[in-house]
Amino acid sequence: MSSFPAHRPRRLRSTPAMRRLVTEHSLHARQLVLPVFVTERDAPQPIATMPGVIQHTLESLPDVVNEAAGAGLGGVMLFGVPAVRDALGTGATDPDGILNRAIRVAKDAAAGRLTVQADLCLDEFTDHGHCGVLDADGGVDNDATLERYVAMALAQAAAGADILGLSGMMDGQVAACREALEDAGFVDVVILAYSAKYASAFYGPFRDAVESTLSGDRKAYQLDPANAREGALEAQRDIDEGADIIMVKPAGPYLDVLADVAASASIPVWAYQVSGEYAMIEMAAAAGAIDRDRAILESLIGIRRAGADAILTYWAIEVAGWLREGRA
Ligand code: PBG
Repeated sequence: MSSFPAHRPRRLRSTPAMRRLVTEHSLHARQLVLPVFVTERDAPQPIATMPGVIQHTLESLPDVVNEAAGAGLGGVMLFGVPAVRDALGTGATDPDGILNRAIRVAKDAAAGRLTVQADLCLDEFTDHGHCGVLDADGGVDNDATLERYVAMALAQAAAGADILGLSGMMDGQVAACREALEDAGFVDVVILAYSAKYASAFYGPFRDAVESTLSGDRKAYQLDPANAREGALEAQRDIDEGADIIMVKPAGPYLDVLADVAASASIPVWAYQVSGEYAMIEMAAAAGAIDRDRAILESLIGIRRAGADAILTYWAIEVAGWLREGRA
């Protein structure tokens, strides 16, 4: 009798019930976070390069928060799209600035059903579009920017944000914000550190989404896509500085970094499936090149498989619906 093949791994793939039984990884609505853009204009606006995503207004924000809560999501991540910008990003620290107002509105609508998270970075608020304030030579001044981030952290905490998403990649930003929050008595505000944030082309559509006017690039503060060790080091430093959660961003092109960080981190590790990852699948599917829904699920399970505990994704509500229907 032939002993070939010695192994038949296809046995475990033979029926849907068998495959379901041996599935290693899964998606859960509670581990998905929806990024939400909030504009100061009168009406919600479509975002040309992100088909299906819109800028909300303060009036439409409660609806999407309700929808997100109803879908069982873990949270919403808010981005402000201010009408007026200046060199210091004054709108970011103004309690009546669009993002701080949005935090209050979202917090109210959430009523404790999901977390309210806020992007803590200056690029949406500066007229030059950089993530910090500029020095005399036009470079981003790290330490002067930290002062702005600290003020922003206090404004967002005062507005009621549960989680602050520190996405600016300034050195020492986690420690500076943590100390200020402690001193002000905001001891329960969670710091989500975008530790390994790469200088990525995949943020392209986001510029549209927040109407950013950046000329130049962010290579002097975001990570070089060619570097993996540096991403792991940034994550460890942020943990040492007091981060509660760390993040790798973008997700898809950096699954190796994500897996590496997730394997050694002692705190939750998240990943951000960014605007360009969204646009790639939407546009390829619209052109008939790929099956949209399957591609979305495959991209997300890949991020989970690499080690992400939670994922920021523009498809969060839709995917949560599929999960509820048992389609995913
Ligand atoms: C910084 C920030 C960016 C994104 C999230 N936070 C832009 C950047 O750093 O250039 C990108 C998110 C996306 O592309 O979906 N405020």
